Amino acid sequence: MMKRLVVVLSLCLAPNAFAADDVVDVWKAKCKSCHGDDGKAKTKMGQKESLADMSQPAWQAAVTDTDIRQMIADGSPRNTKMKPFKEKLTAAQIDALVGYIRTLKAK
Ligand code: HEC
Repeated sequence: MMKRLVVVLSLCLAPNAFAADDVVDVWKAKCKSCHGDDGKAKTKMGQKESLADMSQPAWQAAVTDTDIRQMIADGSPRNTKMKPFKEKLTAAQIDALVGYIRTLKAK
């Protein structure tokens, strides 16, 4: 009885767990080198380009989800180092990244 419950539970939880793993992997593979593990941009590129600290509540409040999505999809109109990712990532991955960036906000 208990065993069956565990199996059912893990089947229910699995898709979400995969989605979360996937977005973290994408962040690590494609974003972390400049924006850092935690979005604080304590990286060489972050310093050189004075990148925003995404954990700051003020930054989080200043940008909309649409701004973030557009920046990821189309890249920055001001700085070619922030490349467009729309050819490299699916719309679902970009949406997941927007959600992930929101989780970086300092508590
Ligand atoms: C090669 C370095 C580099 C990588 C890799 C990179 N970025 Fe950026 N990113 C930048 C730079 C530089 C800017 C600043 C652009 C500007 O000032 O207009 C930026 C800006 C941003 C912004 C807007 C920040 C603000 O201040 O409004 C977001 C959101 C963002 N990046 C998300 C991502 C995501 C998500 C990824 C991974 C898919 C990523 N970046 C990968 C360099 C990078």
